[in-house]
Amino acid sequence: MVLLSRIIASALIGAGLVVSQAALAHGDVTPQAVDVSTLKPLGEKYADENPYRGNAEAIRIGTSAYNQNCARCHGLEAISGGIAPDLRKLELDKETDQYFLQSVRRGKVRNGAVYMPPFEGILQQEAMWAIRSYLDTRSEFAAGNKAPELSPMEVLAKKSNCLSCHSVDSKGVGPAYREVAEKYAKDKKAEARLVAKVRKGGSGVWGKVPMPPMQDVSEDDVKSLVKWILAGAK
Ligand code: HEC
Ligand code: HEC
Repeated sequence: MVLLSRIIASALIGAGLVVSQAALAHGDVTPQAVDVSTLKPLGEKYADENPYRGNAEAIRIGTSAYNQNCARCHGLEAISGGIAPDLRKLELDKETDQYFLQSVRRGKVRNGAVYMPPFEGILQQEAMWAIRSYLDTRSEFAAGNKAPELSPMEVLAKKSNCLSCHSVDSKGVGPAYREVAEKYAKDKKAEARLVAKVRKGGSGVWGKVPMPPMQDVSEDDVKSLVKWILAGAK
């Protein structure tokens, strides 16, 4: 997970698009204050486990706090469009509670680049845990939230890291696979060219953000993936 988000972040940095792309896509970037007066106060000391797990009021407050502060990068309903990690993949244990809180308090800043701003001093501890309570309900690990069944080609695309930047229907860091299929519908030579491009990486066709070279994926797998994409990724 962390590794994938680094690939994405470095692709964005390469194009000078960190944060500003998110801002352009979703408008307002000012953090929003959250009213937590109806939740049990937690005091100064940070809890090491979510004190509100399953609490309906915390989930209600967390839903709106998430939409106002996090959705512009992590996606509405926590379905990531590829700019930032998919928070439905966070597990529901105490260790992940701590990782969650650290991530939100400190943000994600490396070598001076702000991938995610720190929220300490902006969101109260109560608001952070309320957001975690909301995300619990969206987690793939929550009862009844099983991840959707993937087709064998989707499994290969996922295993090959393609889905950290692409989705079938919507634009992420890279173009939607449906759009790629439409663009090359009449181009018989597209297949060989795209196989080479995926292996070497490149930019300029869909925008300035580059696709990194996908050298760890075998040529056969890339061929199958490109065939599948050109056929509409069904
Ligand atoms: C400006 C965009 C942006 C905003 C706003 C933002 N994040 Fe993030 N977040 C990121 C990026 C990018 C990463 C991955 C950073 C990296 O490379 O490690 C990340 C990482 C995380 C992680 C670690 C996930 C993992 O799988 O390692 C958590 C948890 C998280 N964010 C929660 C939140 C919450 C909760 C909010 C709202 C309070 C929020 N983020 C707001 C961009 C953002
Ligand atoms: C780190 C992000 C990232 C990953 C991972 C990634 N792509 Fe891409 N992909 C992009 C971007 C960005 C573009 C647009 C490049 C351009 O504008 O020329 C792109 C473009 C494409 C295109 C269209 C190329 C064209 O010239 O029209 C195909 C096909 C493609 N990707 C397939 C794949 C496959 C298959 C994988 C997995 C093996 C993959 N991508 C992994 C970001 C990524």
